[in-house]
Amino acid sequence: MDKIVVEGGRPLKGAISVSGSKNAALPMLFATLLADGVSVLENVPNLVDIQSTNLLLAGLGAKVAFENNWVEVDTRGLCCPEAPYDLVRKMRASVLALGPLLARMKKARVSLPGGCAIGERPIDYHLEGLKRLGVSVEIRHGYVEASVHKLVGSEIFFDQVSVTGTENIMMAATLAEGESTLRNAAREPEIVALAEMLNQMGAKIEGAGTAIIKIMGVPSLSPAKTTVIADRIEAGTILVAGVLTRGDILLQNCNPEHMGTVLHKLQQAGAMITHDDNSIHVRANGGIRSVNVKTLPYPGFPTDMQAQFMVLMTAARGQAIITETIFENRFIHVSELKRMGADITITGNNAIVKGVSSLSGAPVMASDLRASASLVLAGLVAKGQTVVSRIYHLDRGYEALEKKFEQLGAAIKRVK
Ligand code: EPZ
Repeated sequence: MDKIVVEGGRPLKGAISVSGSKNAALPMLFATLLADGVSVLENVPNLVDIQSTNLLLAGLGAKVAFENNWVEVDTRGLCCPEAPYDLVRKMRASVLALGPLLARMKKARVSLPGGCAIGERPIDYHLEGLKRLGVSVEIRHGYVEASVHKLVGSEIFFDQVSVTGTENIMMAATLAEGESTLRNAAREPEIVALAEMLNQMGAKIEGAGTAIIKIMGVPSLSPAKTTVIADRIEAGTILVAGVLTRGDILLQNCNPEHMGTVLHKLQQAGAMITHDDNSIHVRANGGIRSVNVKTLPYPGFPTDMQAQFMVLMTAARGQAIITETIFENRFIHVSELKRMGADITITGNNAIVKGVSSLSGAPVMASDLRASASLVLAGLVAKGQTVVSRIYHLDRGYEALEKKFEQLGAAIKRVK
């Protein structure tokens, strides 16, 4: 298994381009199933989760070609609507196959995803929403067995904001008969990007990006040709690295519009940030200030940036309280950070982070995608050498992150 070795203490300087968004590309790849023909997506990041999705689509009978961030999906050979356990357990976003398969083939057999490190992550909102559209759902032998005679538009209310729940129901509703209204829908930029792609395919979706999304069903959709938006979480991760190492970074091909709360919190922490519409310039400006953060659905502070911001707070002056409200177990990185000398106390869903003068490099172990990014960040600024193992977690959601940091001057390398 690969490891990442990093010598701390170098300020990151220079310009770097942000990759396409994993959490936009995944639902968009599944959305290609809704049309009969060849769809093309550009600026798709080369990640393990994208490769898993391409494998899953091929298993459904689609022909998938993927090279230099460009994916072509030919769905004319769609045959067996089944997403097998060994693929779904590796990537819970595979549940996004449900909506499109039911809309296109009227049936689907998708393995239950099972939990993951950060929480149980049930899919009850997905299944309730599909039932509201007329789908009959059975759970048998660890699989969701779903079928529908005809999808009929309906009113769907989400008890809790769910990103992929909103995406799954939105995709199914595009080919339902009549109008559907999604209430308490997720408002993430990735939802807006998916809706824009679906509308380009002929869907009739209004209100994406707000809590109420209206979808008027249409008889069929045509293939898409579109580009994936920039990854706001990768962008935020690199900005944190710039402040943490007292560096000076120009982030290109990103969308500051999608990062309002993160930029605001970094400025509160003392970063100097300027931006135009597709780049962000970040510089440290002396000391880092302790700032409280609470994760919330978009446009609140993203849970996917919680671990990265926590590392920044370990180097701040004072005490910060970080509250995780989305997932029940998303502090796994804390124990590893404490091994590097961080002063963090967890009470319930709060982490109390007291700044320390420096972290010390150590061998640490990644546990989930964003936790692994936070350990790499800690290594960039810790005294001495840090070795991060199990970085397959990192490769699920970041395209060659260590190469990006190396390009910015970090002493970092991947070893087998
Ligand atoms: C998406 O996961 C993202 N993944 C996650 O990113 C992200 O952390 C999360 O949204 C929150 O922003 C993708 O987009 C592929 P949710 P998702 O449904 O859709 C509960 C990363 O690091 N819930 O918005 O699975 C759930 O347990 C990943 O890139 C139910 O109870 O998250 C959680 O507590 C990690 N029942 C909360 O809702 C359901 O049916 C929000 O989950 C669905 C969700």
